[in-house]
Amino acid sequence: MKLDSIIQTFWVLPTFVLFATAHSWVEQLTVIAANGTFTGTPGYARGNWLRTAPGFNDTTMTYLIPPDGSANVTLVLPTDKLCKNTQQTQTQSDGSPRLKASAGAAIALRYQENGHVTLPWNQPGKPKNRGTVYVYGTTEPKVGETLLDVHGAWTADGTGGDKRGVLLSTQNFDDGRCYQINTGNISEARQTEYPHQANSLMGADLWCQQDVQLPATAPSGKLYTLYWVWDWPTAPGVDPTYPQGKKEIYTTCMDIDVTGTTTSHSQEQDSYATDQNLDSAAIPSEFADLDEDGSAKATQSPLESSSSSSSAASSESSATATTIWQTFTSTIPTVTETAWRTMEKTVTVRECQATGATSAGQ
Ligand SMILES: *[C@@H]1O[C@H](CO)[C@@H](O)[C@H](O)[C@H]1NC(C)=O
Ligand SMILES: *[C@@H]1O[C@H](CO)[C@@H](O)[C@H](O)[C@H]1NC(C)=O
Ligand SMILES: *[C@@H]1O[C@H](CO)[C@@H](O)[C@H](O)[C@H]1NC(C)=O
Ligand SMILES: *[C@@H]1O[C@H](CO)[C@@H](O)[C@H](O)[C@H]1NC(C)=O
Repeated sequence: MKLDSIIQTFWVLPTFVLFATAHSWVEQLTVIAANGTFTGTPGYARGNWLRTAPGFNDTTMTYLIPPDGSANVTLVLPTDKLCKNTQQTQTQSDGSPRLKASAGAAIALRYQENGHVTLPWNQPGKPKNRGTVYVYGTTEPKVGETLLDVHGAWTADGTGGDKRGVLLSTQNFDDGRCYQINTGNISEARQTEYPHQANSLMGADLWCQQDVQLPATAPSGKLYTLYWVWDWPTAPGVDPTYPQGKKEIYTTCMDIDVTGTTTSHSQEQDSYATDQNLDSAAIPSEFADLDEDGSAKATQSPLESSSSSSSAASSESSATATTIWQTFTSTIPTVTETAWRTMEKTVTVRECQATGATSAGQ
């Protein structure tokens, strides 16, 4: 009790102050047990730098494409690398080991929302789902891998691009639950709806996650590489600084030590434990959407309102929902915060509802 309140006091402040400048990366990987609870020892990205380590700052882990200072922010160049320079090789840093997981295992990739979910009006012209997060998988990563060789090229069935890898998952950056503590109405609503005890890892915040599944065919005794790509574009004609819009992509490159195979997730697909501690629980809709036979299907979720309280999902409708959203963002006429709010209301996700997706809440 006493410890909790100390931790809370200690952590609330820094996260509150930092949200405006911080961007996101995969901070931790964890295996998810059949009941949806995180299990085992967490793993970390290549070249990870823990927030608690000396010398940490926001740029030690963020990797932006196009990079700051690019001549044309609407362009990703064929030479733009997929992985940050500190994540080019399959190397771990001291204290940040690789995740060990079985082929077919369900894995949560967790990241902080940094206000991008709870304070969406801070960045005009951004997608309502706060961008889309993609996870690509390969047993044949390359040093010097380029973004365009992978992102938008590799496909779920493995026939895309140079066929070295697959698209494993596509989700909304906003997982429907996550928040940082601030006085915005979204954060306050979520603090009430998804309460948890502050802890030394997340502080009082609740991190976002993307739940993916390793292919059942990932060879045991080898490394399997995951590329996390957060695609968070600015639409044209909204922010006067970017009349043509801009691309804004962040990545994290990770490897997993594959040891054996598991069928636990698929066998117990319906055994998600209700009312479990949110600090260590998969997102129910994403978890349920993982493929039953552990094949490399791209899991997807539909567009969700950032103010939505529902986390139900239906994979069938996601393509539709994404298309509706993209159409919408490219036609936003004005620049103001009001425009964003109006937008939030006018994106009737009725069409999505009709196809089985989650509604926009109000
Ligand atoms: C952040 O840390 C990196 C080393 O990881 C260093 O090169 C850089 O100068 C630091 N930036 C700031 C703003 O302190
Ligand atoms: C950036 O590139 C796009 C696509 O090639 C082009 O249409 C646009 O005019 C360029 N913008 C600037 C500012 O050069
Ligand atoms: C879920 O399963 C794991 C591993 O079997 C177990 O440690 C954990 O207590 C279970 N969680 C709940 C909420 O039942
Ligand atoms: C937050 O406020 C905005 C603007 O007033 C509103 O559109 C939105 O529905 C609110 N969200 C929540 C979760 O209260």
